[in-house]
Amino acid sequence: MLRKDKIASNQGKLGVLVVGLGAVSTTFIAGVMASRKGVAKPFGSLTQMARIRLGKRTDNRNPLIKDFVPLASLDDIEFLTWDIFPANAYEAAMKAGVLQKQDLDAIESDLKAIVPQKAVFESHYVKKLHGEHVKSGANKMELAEQLMEDIRKFKDAKKISRFVMIWLASTEVYVEKKPIHDSLAEFEKGLRESSVEITPSMIYAYAALKMGIPYINGAPNLSVDMGAMQTLADQNKVPIAGKDLKTGQTLMKTILAPGLKARMLGLDGWFSTNILGNRDGEVLDDPESFKTKEVSKLSVLETILQPESYPELYNDFYHKVRINYYPPRGDNKESWDNIDIFGWMGYQMQIKINFLCRDSILAAPVSLDLVLFADLAARAGMFGIQEWLSFYLKSPMAAPGLTPENDLFIQQVKLKNTLRYMMEEDLITHLGLEYYDMM
Ligand SMILES: NC(=O)c1ccc[n+]([C@@H]2O[C@H](COP(=O)([O-])OP(=O)(O)OC[C@H]3O[C@@H](n4cnc5c(N)ncnc54)[C@H](O)[C@@H]3O)[C@@H](O)[C@H]2O)c1
Repeated sequence: MLRKDKIASNQGKLGVLVVGLGAVSTTFIAGVMASRKGVAKPFGSLTQMARIRLGKRTDNRNPLIKDFVPLASLDDIEFLTWDIFPANAYEAAMKAGVLQKQDLDAIESDLKAIVPQKAVFESHYVKKLHGEHVKSGANKMELAEQLMEDIRKFKDAKKISRFVMIWLASTEVYVEKKPIHDSLAEFEKGLRESSVEITPSMIYAYAALKMGIPYINGAPNLSVDMGAMQTLADQNKVPIAGKDLKTGQTLMKTILAPGLKARMLGLDGWFSTNILGNRDGEVLDDPESFKTKEVSKLSVLETILQPESYPELYNDFYHKVRINYYPPRGDNKESWDNIDIFGWMGYQMQIKINFLCRDSILAAPVSLDLVLFADLAARAGMFGIQEWLSFYLKSPMAAPGLTPENDLFIQQVKLKNTLRYMMEEDLITHLGLEYYDMM
């Protein structure tokens, strides 16, 4: 049982360790800086904007989440980043082209102060990228130790009290889970022997967990979705969450599909295609990196629609996802969905969605919330896979033997009820019990 008076203090600096200094991370960092200067609003973030109902409806208690649970303040955040290019956060944000120059100029000196550390990287795992700003070491264990040393130096220089690491770097090539990923002893042996099965994202995750730092996987890479890392997270009592931020087309899918299922409307097919012109799009143009993304994007419909329970409605629906690299569009992705559904007596209908979204604008608040909630979880003594953060994730990790929950609305109830539980408030069932109490 969690006790609210046992949640450790939110005072002191929170070191946010961001792997990758590209479109999402610079948009996230710039938004935090602009919000604390009061020059922009953190729209899209539950930790900054949302309220939570407490008690009975008649109680009229509806505080902001940030006033209800003890979150780190944006003013207390310090960033440390790594990238394979040496550009500072201002230059990297200009290159990413998500935010306009006038918005970046308002926080120029703060952004220029963020200069990435050399990355742990090999082109073998992200075929489309070649960078020079990269660490070298005798083996992969030594590279993990170098990352830990970066973190220690930052801790001392900035007087950091606690940390969270978030992977916002490129999607790696698809890696099948092997025995080396299951056992911590085998994994550590693999680090010392520089096993090819160990990708850079696993090395960062290992460094974080070894130091007791919560790790969030914003990409579909395996990273911590494996036994070895979960053992380490449990041993060191560290929260972990992943995989892949839920934005854009998948966000729409997990909003719409639960509605179709709730009304028992059937599905014949869901065709999704995208054009995208940023560096993420370029990386995903490589079939091996795309495969990692595809697996993450395809899984959502199955778990929401549960064809095994509703074979007449959802057996054998055709689901296709395409991502097309189209440079002129930059970060302003456009997606099209064609959804073939059927209703009463089997009559067919179609839904078309054309979403002109800005991926990084959707991903930045998700990154902030994941970081602040992971820090809260750590201070509340929660560790291992944080299923209550599935709300933000495209391909959520679940405890062994459990099916992940992809329905955005169930995920939202779970998130808010977890916060109520942490603070020893009644869980809300939406039964309307106050009405019966009055009778
Ligand atoms: N944009 C979104 O809405 C969204 C949604 C879900 C997931 N993601 C994932 O988030 C990640 C970042 O997306 P983005 O649009 O910012 O991409 P991006 O290409 O703009 O940025 C990624 C950065 O990571 C760096 N990098 C690559 N490997 C690295 C390593 N080993 N160590 C340190 N840095 C490394 C690259 O140099 C690049 O600067 C991708 O994996 C993407 O699939 C993005």
